[in-house]
Amino acid sequence: MDKLKVMTIFGTRPEAIKMAPLVKKLAEEERIRSIVAVTAQHREMLDQVLRLFSIKADYDLDIMKEGQSLSDITVKALQGLEGIIKGEKPDLVMVHGDTSTTFVGALAAFYQQVKVAHVEAGLRTYHKYSPYPEEMNRHLTGVLADLHFAPTSTARAHLLAENIPAERIAVTGNTVIDALLATVDPNYCFTERELNQLDYQQKKVILLTAHRRENLGQPLDNIFKAVKELLASDRRIEVIFPVHLNPGVRKTVNRVLAGTERIHLIEPLDYQPFANLMARVTLILTDSGGIQEEAPALGKPVLVLRNTTERPEAVEAGTVKLVGTDPAKILITAQKLLQDQVAYQKMANAVNPYGDGRASQRIVNRLLTEYGRGKE
Ligand code: UD1
Ligand code: UDP
Repeated sequence: MDKLKVMTIFGTRPEAIKMAPLVKKLAEEERIRSIVAVTAQHREMLDQVLRLFSIKADYDLDIMKEGQSLSDITVKALQGLEGIIKGEKPDLVMVHGDTSTTFVGALAAFYQQVKVAHVEAGLRTYHKYSPYPEEMNRHLTGVLADLHFAPTSTARAHLLAENIPAERIAVTGNTVIDALLATVDPNYCFTERELNQLDYQQKKVILLTAHRRENLGQPLDNIFKAVKELLASDRRIEVIFPVHLNPGVRKTVNRVLAGTERIHLIEPLDYQPFANLMARVTLILTDSGGIQEEAPALGKPVLVLRNTTERPEAVEAGTVKLVGTDPAKILITAQKLLQDQVAYQKMANAVNPYGDGRASQRIVNRLLTEYGRGKE
């Protein structure tokens, strides 16, 4: 029987991190021919991940331009993917998560009547603009998909409620845990001197990330104001902020945070140092999606700088708290955690609602049975 031809399409840092373990498994499986197409919606931040996991893309659309709009990404990726899918005629296209590349990859496959599998399917806030545009990207991709790999039973329940047939859904865990477990090492030594020199035991080291489109402008100003007040309130606090390359983020960072004492504004970190940094800090403040899944597995409390989350499992488990972007609320909640050992320990329990590190293998197994390549 012919090999199953599977094309994975991704374009940004988080998709690459979460697709990397799956791409590896697809490449190892002799009954599958794996083709990797990247839109390069992100450039440097994507390339870092490809390098770390030694993935060489078969196709690279190189679409990124500075300050790109959602339409720029959509149009360029859709046009570029058309020719690639037409030429390769894969049996299946796989997309991941909620970015514009995700939605457009699914749409481009549908236009060529190629089957679509959605990895990390079924996450929902049911708020159209929060997160924006990711919530809508997830819905649209879900409508186009033929197979849905849900990370948790909550995600599966959302899909069932939207009338996706149960036999089209598989609960696999999240591939982010596959990537994380392969990357975190207690003996890891940072190549960045600044990170090696910090005393993670004596200081209260906070890791900050922020990039969501709906937080650009005033919400970012508010977040940074809270961070400055937090720093001023206790000399033992140090904040590490790997600043996202989005110029909309950088502008506000430079205006509000530059020159602040004990804040380390650094370039985005490669995934290996970043994951190992998460494992060492005291507290994480973030509006990221993926970090809400990784930090609980590492036993690190997370304050989410958003009003909604599509990752309720970690909130229920108690390691993640939604604080939004109100400066007073961020400040009070962070201070309580840093001062009150009982409150801190209550949140710092390592729980892992997102998987056991074997999600990629489950996905590959399902593909093989689904498409008649399973073992007799
Ligand atoms: C994108 C995704 C978002 C995801 C985030 C992860 C969309 C609409 N947004 O948001 O869902 O959470 O990635 O980080 O799909 N840039 C660079 N180099 C890079 C990456 C970005 O210079 O390697 C700059 C460019 O100027 C680019 C801008 O950042 O135009 C914004 O990138 P874009 O992918 O549009 O949005 P993100 O905010 O990164
Ligand atoms: N990450 C990284 N370097 C950084 C910041 C984040 O490697 O400087 C990783 C992080 O561990 C997670 C992913 O990037 O796996 C999250 O990406 P991001 O927050 O950009 O996107 P989101 O998950 O919000 O879509």
